[in-house]
Amino acid sequence: MYYKINTYGCQMNVHESEKLAGMLEEMGYVSTVNDEEADVFVFNTCCIRDNAEDRLSGNLGAIKKICMADRTKIVAVVGCMTQQKGVAEKLRKSYPYVDIVLGTSNLVELKQAIEVAKRRKKYVSIKPATMDASLELPIARTSYPNAWVNIMYGCNNFCTYCIVPYVRGRERSRDMASIVADCEKLIKEGYKEITLLGQNVDSYGSDLEGVTFADLLERIASIEGKFRIRFMTSHPKDINQRTVDVIAKYKNICNNVHLPVQSGSTKVLEEMNRKYTREDYLKIINALREAMPDVGITTDIMVGFPTETEEDYLETLSLVKEVRFSNAFTFVYSPRNGTPAAKMEQIDDEIKKRRVVELIALQNSITKEISDEYEGKVKEILVEDVNPKYEGTVCGRTECGRLVTFAGSPDMIGRFVNVKITRSQSASLFGEVEE
Ligand code: 5AD
Ligand code: SF4
Repeated sequence: MYYKINTYGCQMNVHESEKLAGMLEEMGYVSTVNDEEADVFVFNTCCIRDNAEDRLSGNLGAIKKICMADRTKIVAVVGCMTQQKGVAEKLRKSYPYVDIVLGTSNLVELKQAIEVAKRRKKYVSIKPATMDASLELPIARTSYPNAWVNIMYGCNNFCTYCIVPYVRGRERSRDMASIVADCEKLIKEGYKEITLLGQNVDSYGSDLEGVTFADLLERIASIEGKFRIRFMTSHPKDINQRTVDVIAKYKNICNNVHLPVQSGSTKVLEEMNRKYTREDYLKIINALREAMPDVGITTDIMVGFPTETEEDYLETLSLVKEVRFSNAFTFVYSPRNGTPAAKMEQIDDEIKKRRVVELIALQNSITKEISDEYEGKVKEILVEDVNPKYEGTVCGRTECGRLVTFAGSPDMIGRFVNVKITRSQSASLFGEVEE
């Protein structure tokens, strides 16, 4: 018996798919990448932009023939997209071979849903997105030497463009003791990197008594052993000096912060309900660089938000030039049903496209310049994987999050090695292991 999971969207989904896989493996299913072989298909969906939804339609369409020909195959569509109004109904009409639909808080029901589907009955269960019952699930981890650890679920921020608070519900922090226990166990098991996950990690603990994200970081950083800590995503309105100081103080907390700016225009930021100004953002960047001169800062930027004028957009470009992000994820604003921004006057698609192309070109040239500065330097790399693009090589990241490829073999995965950077190619670095 085989399963195949297709995951769309963010790291949160990647990790939730590890929990779905954990349940399937407990039931005796084994992972496959082959559609013909799979007995159970799971689509763990994303609805943050329309292209994620389009990809799901394409992939569901692609298995139609196989599933219609063999009605013992079970198809489950789960996660964010299913929480949206009308989606379950649309799936039922357009994809009759979908047997199971589970909401973001219903993933834990996968086992019973499969039992029902085996009897050729539909199983649809979508709770309002308030609770995650998925905390105690078995996890089939797929990202050694990294382990993802949820520290909180949901989001309270209601940025006006964003669907996340509607499909994942309000912010719920996990209890600190159970997060620390998870991390201790993972490190004992040999994991070398812990990545803490939350929509807004800086507000961790705001619903608990007397704990903050900085406290949690300190506590995890004090666990015995050689390992790295990463975390995502940070929010400019909530990151504070104490958190910056804690990241700087502990060697095992990576000097790498993902801090979405979204726009360089204070006016647009206000329309987005981001609750910081351009100046606030630049101050945080200064504080980070003062505490950690080598910090790697990455960001998310959106163009074409309603009301974004050419001047606003030029402010985004000027902020990108000023900050010099080590990398930026760039997006074209995509209206999401039910969010306030979807009801505002929209910007022409052609303008959006031109803006994103220019923004990407600017960021690429900055990324390349920063890459060039690495040449000749020796960096500690945690070997993560083989690099399938180049035979006989492995790859891993610097503390700041840069990917480096060098000659090596799979047995090096999970080891820390010093690598001299010899060459750069846009965002990628190449090097040689130093004895
Ligand atoms: N359109 C385009 N990009 C979006 N993001 C969130 N919502 C939207 C949307 N409606 C981007 C933001 C966020 C990242 C995860 O996705 O930049 O930080
Ligand atoms: Fe969406 Fe804003 Fe919450 Fe991030 S902080 S998940 S962009 S609402």
